[in-house]
Amino acid sequence: LRDKLQTAQERMFRFSLYITIYADTEKGLRDIETNLRSILESRLIYIKPALYQQKEGFVCTSPYDLDLLMVTTLMNTAPLSSTFPFISFDLSSNEGILYGINRHNNSLVLFDRFTLANSNSVIFAVSGAGKSYMVKLEILRYLMLGVDGIIIDPENEYKFLAEAVGGSFFNISLASEHHINPFDLPPPREDEKAEDVLRTNIINLVGLMRIMLGGLTPEEDGIMDRALTETYAAKDITPETDPKLWGRKEGLPFPIMSDLEAVLSTMEGAESLVRRLQRFTKGVYAGFFNQPSNIDMKNRLVVFGIRDMEDELRPMALFMILRYIWKTITSEMKKRLLIVDEAWWLMKTEDGASFLFGTVKRARKYWLGVTTITQDVNDFMKSDYGKPIITNSSLVLLMKQSPATINVVQKTFNLTEEEKMLLLEAPVGEGMFFAGTKHVLIKVLASYTEDQIITTAPEELLKIKQAKKELGG
Ligand SMILES: Nc1ncnc2c1ncn2[C@@H]1O[C@H](COP(=O)(O)OP(=O)(O)OP(=O)(O)O)[C@@H](O)[C@H]1O
Ligand SMILES: [Mg+2]
Repeated sequence: LRDKLQTAQERMFRFSLYITIYADTEKGLRDIETNLRSILESRLIYIKPALYQQKEGFVCTSPYDLDLLMVTTLMNTAPLSSTFPFISFDLSSNEGILYGINRHNNSLVLFDRFTLANSNSVIFAVSGAGKSYMVKLEILRYLMLGVDGIIIDPENEYKFLAEAVGGSFFNISLASEHHINPFDLPPPREDEKAEDVLRTNIINLVGLMRIMLGGLTPEEDGIMDRALTETYAAKDITPETDPKLWGRKEGLPFPIMSDLEAVLSTMEGAESLVRRLQRFTKGVYAGFFNQPSNIDMKNRLVVFGIRDMEDELRPMALFMILRYIWKTITSEMKKRLLIVDEAWWLMKTEDGASFLFGTVKRARKYWLGVTTITQDVNDFMKSDYGKPIITNSSLVLLMKQSPATINVVQKTFNLTEEEKMLLLEAPVGEGMFFAGTKHVLIKVLASYTEDQIITTAPEELLKIKQAKKELGG
């Protein structure tokens, strides 16, 4: 210590610590005092009441910068620092991206989510709190670090971002020319058998059918399982054939929905299934559900816009998109972020929620960080998969909450009363940022250029459109 003092690495301080206790009754006061005493004494800190000097003591703990008691102890810097009353964890590291500004001490929250136990995050806040804004900023900054992004966008609000960085934007709707075939299979990885790939996908597909056909009885479940296996087999896609040929136009192309219908119509007890499936193989729905895939996932930023999808079909479309994305993710190892905005659309159905949870849980193994964005915590937590998704997300961002949801939020994330009040009154773009075991108050801040790319403020968008028109002449 002497050496450190001589070289001024440490300093000596005269230090006093005073605590004022408030209570409504004398008994309450004593209880708190006893409690406090035992907490501190267990850490070998002994406190004494300021007998006959209560008034001076009170003045000391008021913000007057006066010490009338002058009961001091000598301490050097290191132990003294542990008494710093504003516990603010530094979330600054040498790598990663700027998430925002730490509201406790104005330091920068610099951080790489890929260094955490898992790279998943969840974001909860009311509409307009700045969820999408923050996520866009994050993806924009991660793109610069070589991380790719895939976004499921129910509002088509990431389109501009995709255009600005040269990414792909797929408008998924009944009328669009972009199709996803749910029968597509990923190529098996080296450690995977063709049989397992087929099996897993058939189980998934039964899940999709459950959503599409409005539930399946246990018998129908069994029939569907068999029918799917046969549908693949009819195209020679079986555990015995070479997976390299699967899905090739000149090899063994994947079946489509009407192939399943054909198989089902030959099976006994499947009449009702066939009837229900025909909604998707004939008529207006066929354009989307009964086509081979033609979506290219090669771009570094890929956005699936589903705003124009019929509300009724959205959970299915989401499920299909998510499966398609998962296929891409598992077939090539790469650092990626997957963003599911307005995730409650997916959480609406049991199978959708379960698939999302599966994705979140296995993401780490594929170098993937899944960001789940939700407005309504109540809805999210109602699903059996809500809590596990949160548990599997090392990163949590809470922004402005509504009085209707705050209690669930408080319970879920163990917030103190102050933190609760903070969240109720948080301005746009501010919130609490949990990373692993640490948390800070954060303000999300974008540069002017970034803001121009990611804003959703209608008047800003109009101005940008205007400017573009003028430039484009
Ligand atoms: N950190 C920020 N700094 C400046 N403006 C912001 C910030 N965050 C959000 N905004 C602005 O606030 C508005 C709402 O933000 P955003 O679209 O991100 O809300 P949201 O939480 O995604 O809402 P919704 O749930 O309705 O999609 C936008 O106009 C956006 O430009
Ligand atoms: Mg949004």
